Amino acid sequence: MSKNKNNQAIWGARIKKATSATFQKIGSSIEIDKRLYKEDIKVSKVHVEMLFKQKIISFKIKNKIIYGLEKIEREIKNNKIYLSKSYEDIHMNIEKRLFQIIGDEAGYIHTARSRNDQVITDFKIWIKSSTKEISLKIDKVITSTLKLAEKNIYTIMPGFTHLKNAQAISFAHYLLAYIEMFNRDKKRFANNLVSLDENPLGVAALGGTAFNIDRNYTTKKLGFKKPTNNSIDTVSDRDFVLDYLYAISVCSMHISRIAEELIIWNSDAYNLINLSDKIVTGSSIMPQKKNPDVLEYLRGKSGIAYGNLFSMLTILKGLPLSYFKDLQDDKEIVFKANDTIMDCLIILDEFIKNFYPNKKQMLDLANTGHITATDLADYLVKNHSMSFRKAYEKTSVIVNLAEKKNKNLSQLSLEELKIIEPKLTNEVLTVFDLKNSVKSKKSYGGTSFENIKRMIMKYKKQND
Ligand code: ARG
Repeated sequence: MSKNKNNQAIWGARIKKATSATFQKIGSSIEIDKRLYKEDIKVSKVHVEMLFKQKIISFKIKNKIIYGLEKIEREIKNNKIYLSKSYEDIHMNIEKRLFQIIGDEAGYIHTARSRNDQVITDFKIWIKSSTKEISLKIDKVITSTLKLAEKNIYTIMPGFTHLKNAQAISFAHYLLAYIEMFNRDKKRFANNLVSLDENPLGVAALGGTAFNIDRNYTTKKLGFKKPTNNSIDTVSDRDFVLDYLYAISVCSMHISRIAEELIIWNSDAYNLINLSDKIVTGSSIMPQKKNPDVLEYLRGKSGIAYGNLFSMLTILKGLPLSYFKDLQDDKEIVFKANDTIMDCLIILDEFIKNFYPNKKQMLDLANTGHITATDLADYLVKNHSMSFRKAYEKTSVIVNLAEKKNKNLSQLSLEELKIIEPKLTNEVLTVFDLKNSVKSKKSYGGTSFENIKRMIMKYKKQND
């Protein structure tokens, strides 16, 4: 229960009995929301500046309050303050401490505001800066991925569909696909800034305030773009939390897909990548093991991310307007989501810097599975005036022949090919060359070496 300087509950004049100890324990959020202390003090300082500007409080009281708040900020930063569960949350703990430092004039700080608008204002500021930090971490992953791509423009591997060899591609092209995913993640986080940039401060408990406050002033001073429109909605709205958790979930899903892919490539069956000893773990019984635990950790964490999103969606489902205590749990969910995605991005970045393509195995694998069959069909269309369907059919017969003879397409002789298409000349043999195959995919967004180089330049500029 919150108490004033006389150690009485703030609502003690009205509520005569002390809160049950069990409820106090459950209801207190100080262990979680103390992370908002800097934001809370910033918001309170701007609030009292505004109250003074609007002649609602005096210059002297404003200065006293600001002095007290700055002292409290230092105390919390240096761990010199006991934040008590009996004062419920960070907001009440700070107010309580303000009474101890400056006395009764602390009572003016809560004029024309409620914890309801105060907490959302703090929270929006916090999520805004978390959003920026996450974006910076994504940038780091993009930079590392780009470096690896630059070194592997000519590393040829099979591209897969259904995990079966499909067409020859450059390993760099694969890596650039990850960059596209991360760029979309950044956009998703940035989209939420539109909502995050609306200032809740001043809507008070739910209905606004009778004081002549200036919401535009606090909006500007706190770095928001505009004040929110409707006081009831403002107090109830947690859409910005959902959007944030959704953006984290999608980013986490991308990381999980990449992790899964690399786990497959690292398996003994595929053996397409090697991991530095820095990023593998051993087995307690099998001495030969080098396991990609880190990737499995990353894959698993997407489950946590989705869980956070679903927790918040479920809390909000069926919650009437406006404030209810149910909403208090939003902080724990958001902080957990932030911490997990930040760790994941740091680990992914380290991973990308510490794994290497097994180029020989990539090429060997690309040379199996008749991977140039589409190239042959394209060749027939371009050089022997066939429709694609006709060429597809001819190529199928050629693939069957190769399979029957236990050969790769490139191992078939011109004579053998001519049994199926007599018009073919020596020139056709060039289509079975994997480099030619990759080179030929020049359409915008395709895997040709030229396209990749152009895209790398583009991403580099974007990330400068
Ligand atoms: N700790 C509370 C929360 O984060 C602060 C809001 C309290 N408002 C109220 N009406 N009890 O949800």
